[in-house]
Amino acid sequence: MADDAPPPVLTLTPLNPAFREDPYAILNDLREKTPVMRDDMAGLFFISRYEDVRGILTDLTLWRSPERAEAAAFLVRRGLDEPIDPERGPPRHSILTLDDPDHARIRGPLAQALYKRVAKFRAPTEAIVSATLDAIGDQKRFDLMSAYALPIPIDVIAAILGVEHERLAEFRTWSEGVIQVLNPVRTEEQTRAMQAASDALASYMTDMLHRRRAEPQDDLVSDMAILKAKGEADIADEDLIINLSALLVAGNLTTTDLIGNGVRLFLQHPEELAKLKADPSLIGAAVEEVLRFEPPVDITGRIASKNMEVRGCPIRDTQAMWVSLRAANRDPDTFEDPDRFNITRKRAPHVSFGGGAHICIGSPLARLEAQVALLRLFERYPNMRLAEPDAPSEWRLLPFFRGLEHLIVEV
Ligand code: HEM
Repeated sequence: MADDAPPPVLTLTPLNPAFREDPYAILNDLREKTPVMRDDMAGLFFISRYEDVRGILTDLTLWRSPERAEAAAFLVRRGLDEPIDPERGPPRHSILTLDDPDHARIRGPLAQALYKRVAKFRAPTEAIVSATLDAIGDQKRFDLMSAYALPIPIDVIAAILGVEHERLAEFRTWSEGVIQVLNPVRTEEQTRAMQAASDALASYMTDMLHRRRAEPQDDLVSDMAILKAKGEADIADEDLIINLSALLVAGNLTTTDLIGNGVRLFLQHPEELAKLKADPSLIGAAVEEVLRFEPPVDITGRIASKNMEVRGCPIRDTQAMWVSLRAANRDPDTFEDPDRFNITRKRAPHVSFGGGAHICIGSPLARLEAQVALLRLFERYPNMRLAEPDAPSEWRLLPFFRGLEHLIVEV
């Protein structure tokens, strides 16, 4: 990267081999020299200092919906101007890209129901993690991602929603298919597979909602049906389905990556693993440090709702901003010795779950899953090690996410 030519944002993704190998070298340089970078081609500002990122995330006057962005915000508005499929009608949005009053109207009751479920989900999570460990059997060498990090979040969210045991295999397939919605450079074939998975999932969820309405069970879909019946959730069925499906899209791969990144970091830093084994009550702090050090999600976005300034740079009403959660988490003005993985560091809140009104609704669940998954894994396999410690890590190519394709371990 030439000093005077900051890269357009698409080179700040794993599609760029240098970024894939070491995003922090590139982001540290950018944060230092160009903390507010304009990318005219993408039509957005890329913002990387912790103080600015936090300020934007917690500014509740900013917008999230891509429709609010100026026409020049090409990357943010992609897909919006495509003709509407007459059979599907105009696309509906999940809370991720809604603004108030719709955002608060839908998020409020959904968060209330989800948080209640998560608060009593430690025992079922322990049971799912334990069954996943049992299924690994007596293998001495295996891929931690496919055997452990991938199935746990899918099985946990399926149990929270109330997916019947005999539909779990299909549900897993759909969950993996709909993830492609996050991939801005997916092929036509991947798009078709994604569409098929999302249609199958929506029709299953619609059917499930009707069945739970008639006969409530102990699950999140029933909770939402009951809230609606009591007049405490003003949410159309179609919006409910989109938002329940969004829990899979937003929650599965991210939590898989949190678990995978955590296992990799601990195996690469035996002194930190020793601290955790000596005092398992450090697990909460350990997961926060994994989240800070190697966040699963790179960026989130906001739209200016007024003329404003960030670090002296004017940003006009309707211009789009991307904030770099990854760069902010390594800002030396906020974190002492930021490039050191240290589970007993003095706490400073990372921004890996975003912030403000849109802060990740699944963060309590992701934390619970990662804490149980990491603790139980290292208990079951006290001698686990990387099978090929000197081989380069196999990062996935999905833009704006950082997670491993494979992590081969020996036990
Ligand atoms: C380690 C795992 C996870 C990470 C790193 C993560 C990260 C994020 C980030 C960065 C945002 C955007 C926040 C913002 O714009 O300020 C977000 C939003 C969201 N996340 Fe997560 N997430 C994780 C797990 C989950 C889980 C398990 C679920 C569901 C059960 C979930 C559901 C959502 C939803 C629905 C939103 C949209 C919230 C809104 O806009 O109001 N996430 N997440």
